[in-house]
Amino acid sequence: MTVELDLSHLTDSFRAEIEGKLTSAKQQLRKLAEKTCRGCEYTGWFDWPSLKGFSTLKEIQQEVSELPVPYDMVLVVGIGGSYAGTKAVDDALKHSFSQCLPADHRLVPLFYVGHNVSERALIEILELLETREPIVNVISKSGTTLEPNIAFRVIEQSLWRRYGKEARQRILVTTQNEGSYLHDLALKRGYKTFDLPPDVGGRYSVLTAVGLLPLTLAGHDCEQLLSGAELLFSELREEVSERHPVLHLAAARHTAWEKGSAIDILSYSEPKLAGFVEWWKQLFGESEGKEGKGLFPAGMMYSTDLHSLGQYLQEGPANILETFLQAREIGRSHQIEKRVKIPGDVLGAEHDRFGFLQGKYVEEVNAAAMQASLRAHAARGLPCVSLSVPRFDEFSLGYLFAFFETVCALSGALLGVNPFDQPGVEVYKKELIQILR
Ligand code: PA5
Repeated sequence: MTVELDLSHLTDSFRAEIEGKLTSAKQQLRKLAEKTCRGCEYTGWFDWPSLKGFSTLKEIQQEVSELPVPYDMVLVVGIGGSYAGTKAVDDALKHSFSQCLPADHRLVPLFYVGHNVSERALIEILELLETREPIVNVISKSGTTLEPNIAFRVIEQSLWRRYGKEARQRILVTTQNEGSYLHDLALKRGYKTFDLPPDVGGRYSVLTAVGLLPLTLAGHDCEQLLSGAELLFSELREEVSERHPVLHLAAARHTAWEKGSAIDILSYSEPKLAGFVEWWKQLFGESEGKEGKGLFPAGMMYSTDLHSLGQYLQEGPANILETFLQAREIGRSHQIEKRVKIPGDVLGAEHDRFGFLQGKYVEEVNAAAMQASLRAHAARGLPCVSLSVPRFDEFSLGYLFAFFETVCALSGALLGVNPFDQPGVEVYKKELIQILR
């Protein structure tokens, strides 16, 4: 198992309640696998890698290798589940200052537009497009989402002005084949289309063409991403032990909800995971927040947030479940390992009382800050659980995508909601259209 879940900081009574829910969690898992659960028409993501994921990736790799135009950037036009997973992987794995590295030392940069309605953001992207050779991947399952549609109109016009008919080769469309205006438009204009399966909802779609195409264009190892997810699903294919962390975390979240928690915080100490935590927030918030129920998902980036929100966790309302997400090893398997040790004082003096840290790796201190927070928050009565993967690489991220999607489906089912729809999102959309018409 790639993920290890540590529940030892919970109280005995909390753990006993988790144990009491494992049978129901396992029943929900069976319904999910058999496609008899509520919302089963949107469970195509479950077991996706072996069913269609690897073959989809092959087709995408072929298309990318045959692209008729050179490119030095990829612009993803999309919102919500149509971009969050891609950004999660790219942010976690690329060099933080990649735009300053020579082109042959970095992945092809990914940029995003259409996930807000900022005119400033569009102006700046248009300026960027003037000097680069872009591939634009517009992604929208429905094809009718206002934010990416506005952005795409603007970007499409700019590409046609600059490239004329060659713009056709620079625009790739990911949408569902049936009933999508975007698909009809792509056919009319002659853009290459990539199918988004009708039984996979946006926030569960990162391992379909939605994530695989832009990540392949950027140069990420999507085989590894799918292999990580495949490992989780293969574990769930067999007769699943009640010890599996998927069941325990789903049951822990439901126990926290029943015991009065209102907030679920995912805490992390690797800043590169900020995008992953945004993906996770959308997954749980949109899946569970309905019918007056659901934990509010939030993220805490340690140690930065210990100097701001840390106070609230230590002494504010105790209605928080906290999940600590960590890597057991440092760095990525296929990169040359570089480490930084804390040196002694540069002039051999002791000014700051931190001499005792000399010789320790910086990451040891980072891990200790997570451990200290876990102990402090658990001691004041917050239910705290710790989740770890070997390292944050493509494989583990793929596993984590599949892991959290399954946990979310199960904990949504335990909560008694449909984790695959999002009826509430429509309300603001109607108001918006009314204001603008
Ligand atoms: O999870 C979902 O279904 C949503 O968050 C969608 O991803 C988001 O609304 C974007 O929708 P679309 O891909 O249809 O543009």
